[in-house]
Amino acid sequence: MAADIDVLFQPADLGNLKLPNRIVMAPMTRSFSPGNAPGADVAAYYRRRAEGGVGLILSEGVSPNTTTATGTPNVPNIATDDAKAGWKKVITEVKAAGGMMGLQLWHEGPYRNPAKTQHPETPSWSASGVKVPGKPLWEPMTEAEIETAIDEFVNAAAATKALGFDCVEFHGAHSYLIDSFFWGQTNLRQDQWGGDWAGRTRFACEIIRRTRERVGAGFPLIVRLSQWKQQDFAAQTAKTPDEMQQWLSPLVEAGIDIFHCSQRRFWEPAFQDSTLNFAGWAKKLTGKPSISVGSVGLSGEFTAAYAGEISEPASLDDLVNRMDAEEFDMIAVGRALLQDPQWANKIRDGRAGELMAFSKDALMTLS
Ligand SMILES: Cc1cc2nc3c(=O)[nH]c(=O)nc-3n(C[C@H](O)[C@H](O)[C@H](O)COP(=O)(O)O)c2cc1C
Repeated sequence: MAADIDVLFQPADLGNLKLPNRIVMAPMTRSFSPGNAPGADVAAYYRRRAEGGVGLILSEGVSPNTTTATGTPNVPNIATDDAKAGWKKVITEVKAAGGMMGLQLWHEGPYRNPAKTQHPETPSWSASGVKVPGKPLWEPMTEAEIETAIDEFVNAAAATKALGFDCVEFHGAHSYLIDSFFWGQTNLRQDQWGGDWAGRTRFACEIIRRTRERVGAGFPLIVRLSQWKQQDFAAQTAKTPDEMQQWLSPLVEAGIDIFHCSQRRFWEPAFQDSTLNFAGWAKKLTGKPSISVGSVGLSGEFTAAYAGEISEPASLDDLVNRMDAEEFDMIAVGRALLQDPQWANKIRDGRAGELMAFSKDALMTLS
């Protein structure tokens, strides 16, 4: 018998964030923002997901500055007046449809390709100038650059709150700037920003701590983390639960509210000898709410989908069982929602026959 999907549609009380159900739209870069400012089509795209019954929408990655944060054309920022005005329209549309939404703040760090940007003379920023372990490309960030990057994240988070969003997420996953400090293979620093766990978490903690000071106690702060790296899917920032504790606890002390634990397949265990996934361990180790993600409702994972693999609709039974067991609190859904804004409503209403396969053709439009 199929597991009961009702658990996905129970309200969630995540401390200072109260959500109508357990489904989060995962952050997905769409590159449909000419001039790096989201337009009416982007606002309508997010509004459709709110109308489709998603409990919380997380935006595509949004740059906190106009210089070092991205090399990808048409990626929105939240640093210019035009972009802020665009995001105001987005949250106004989402609210009009009864939805809730946060912005994901994304600094590409070593994954920005200077040659493809308007500022090719500006080196990319990362903890030690390393993208592929063992092959440094740039100088390590200076103290002044680190301070600037922290300020830019804090200003972007404050702007997110001021515009009326419900929360902000710091992208600390997938080998980008913040993750380049976490992972020992890309953080070779011997100063206060590297070395032990206290050093490697300091950059994220300063962003979180100073944001908390600026936005106050009530505004929810989420951090997205991943063990896997773009350079190495099998990488583990934390190799044991004890190491994971040393990674996550400082972030809690700094003021984070919710962990968003990125996996390519949500059912894969984080460590041997336990079926708990990353979000399960984050919740167990910190007592904080957590969001899981990865291949929900689809047969294949997202990096293969970029290469053209078609993913068919898949069972939600394992997900439902884990949520019944309260392993984690929320589930983020990426491609299924990119493909079909009505995905959550169809699941709720048992319209299984209407669920769609994901093909990368969906990336070409903002439907
Ligand atoms: C087109 C696309 C763009 C993405 N962009 C981002 C992003 O900006 N930030 C981020 O943290 N993850 C990004 N991801 C990863 C998704 O948030 C999610 O973790 C991944 O797609 C797995 O979920 P899924 O299997 O439900 O698609 C992206 C994924 C896709 C398919």
